[in-house]
Amino acid sequence: MRFSIALIAASAAAVQAGVFTQKSYNDISISGGVAGNAENEALAVFSALDQNNLASADKDDIDFLKSVNSICNDAEDEAFNTAIDAASGDAADALQRGKIKNKVLKLEATILRLKIQQAQGDDVASDMAAEQKKLDNNISQDEAEAGKPSTFLSFDAETS
Ligand SMILES: *[C@@H]1O[C@H](CO)[C@@H](O)[C@H](O)[C@H]1NC(C)=O
Repeated sequence: MRFSIALIAASAAAVQAGVFTQKSYNDISISGGVAGNAENEALAVFSALDQNNLASADKDDIDFLKSVNSICNDAEDEAFNTAIDAASGDAADALQRGKIKNKVLKLEATILRLKIQQAQGDDVASDMAAEQKKLDNNISQDEAEAGKPSTFLSFDAETS
């Protein structure tokens, strides 16, 4: 009896596990290619999440989204800012576009995390408004550079 209860508990846990799988920063980066479509590229990274049923998202999904924010921040500080400081001209401009795309990815992860928390009853309205404003501004910056080259930078980090 004890054994079958444990088995039921184990399978229930498996059903509830998050939808995201662990990825490297390089796997989820959208910084390469061209500017202008960062919002859709970022949403594609998180397409496993059912946005129509955020209330049932798992804690693992929240942790994944938090870890995306964290490794994108580290990539910005340790890879993009350093490279931009050392570059000039077209190369610096393309790195800056990659940095903005990285910010769109980071902020999209934050917004989705807040949407889950909201759907699960947390009061995150003021955080949501602040982060949405930053996201919208960065999306505008990306769109203003549409079609221009954007530089991917490799960075050694993993999501949760
Ligand atoms: C882009 O997002 C960052 C947060 O990563 C924010 O500090 C910055 O103000 C935003 N850019 C603009 C133009 O609002």
